[in-house]
Amino acid sequence: MYSYSQRLSWSFSSNPLTQLLIQKRTAGVPFLDLTASNPTQCLPGYPHEEIRNAFGQVRDFTYCPDPLGSHTARSAVAKYYRDRGVFISLDQLALTASTSEAYSYLFKLLCDAGDELLTPLPSYPLFEYLAAFESVRTIPYRLRYDGTWYLDMASLRARMNRRTKAIIIVNPNNPTGTFLSQEERSELLNLARQFSLPIISDEVFGDYIITPGAPISTTLAENDSVLTFSLNGLSKTAGMPQMKLGWIAIGGPAQARQEARQRLEITADTYLSVGTPVQHALSDLLQIGAVLQQQLLQRIKQNIAIMDNLTKGTAIQRLYLHGGWSSILQLPRTLTEEDWVRGLLQEENVLVQPGYFFDMESEAYIVLSLITSPDEFREGVGRICSYVSRHS
Ligand SMILES: Cc1ncc(COP(=O)(O)O)c(C=O)c1O
Repeated sequence: MYSYSQRLSWSFSSNPLTQLLIQKRTAGVPFLDLTASNPTQCLPGYPHEEIRNAFGQVRDFTYCPDPLGSHTARSAVAKYYRDRGVFISLDQLALTASTSEAYSYLFKLLCDAGDELLTPLPSYPLFEYLAAFESVRTIPYRLRYDGTWYLDMASLRARMNRRTKAIIIVNPNNPTGTFLSQEERSELLNLARQFSLPIISDEVFGDYIITPGAPISTTLAENDSVLTFSLNGLSKTAGMPQMKLGWIAIGGPAQARQEARQRLEITADTYLSVGTPVQHALSDLLQIGAVLQQQLLQRIKQNIAIMDNLTKGTAIQRLYLHGGWSSILQLPRTLTEEDWVRGLLQEENVLVQPGYFFDMESEAYIVLSLITSPDEFREGVGRICSYVSRHS
């Protein structure tokens, strides 16, 4: 018999919701997928041709690897920040194949086996896996809701100990869709400085703002007081997850940045995972992505309007959000979250995600993707409303 790593429990059993979904698919039953969040499939006019042209412009495929990313590609990323009023130098940037890979580089950089990372709850469910692969532990701190989401500083502080190696924030958070307020940003930076902890700030949805003018912080990249790692990439900001190019923008005091960069360079040099063609095409891809981003933002706003219109006067409450690609709906507790989600799929042929996927603190919540096609979204939300009215 062979033995395998104990880092993960390697569970292969599928949950009841996935089993039901497989049954529906096998039986050929059409259903409305309100979890769809793949921009390459969600947008009808996806710019395949423009992307092909961007790669067509690439004339030279000589392999001259630079572990942190080519000068041209990093210049394109620096311009991305400059266009947003954030001025960073090329030596503050490290390219990766994806945000997930950026996390793995940073966990290698900051942690030894058994160390701890503070992660927000509710949030993106992949942290546990990414951390387990590096033999480190995620220790959750709470985000709370009182009409808007806020960071529970006491919960964050209470979880710090000598094994804590970094604070992770997701800004805006997925699936809550709320950004850090300016006040939270200064509190967080103060706390991190006090405990000499770096901050990993996942900013992949940072360009999707539906409440312009709100006093929010979109990036930590330009801060010069605490070592910070801002993560972003083509996947969300340019609607191109298939291109496999992300980046880390290192912020903080110059010396800390330099120490971190030198170590990151060794990790990146070990993998050299970002392809040459995508680096050459990056400047053009970001331009194409800027248009895609506007289309996605437009769709997000349209779907929010549809949802608000249909749920008005019902027992469904949409939680407040500033942006991002998801929305959380609170349903009455007449059924459990599991029963709502299974019932919606079984009886209404509507697929949504349950709040527990993201570790919501209580029941009953469902999470919808806001980049789904508006026609499907309207029909799906309509069916949710009628199902809820029959069961509450
Ligand atoms: C908050 C957040 N960060 C990172 C990612 C992954 O991004 P990438 O495709 O760059 O690995 C996702 C994917 O959904 C996400 O929701």
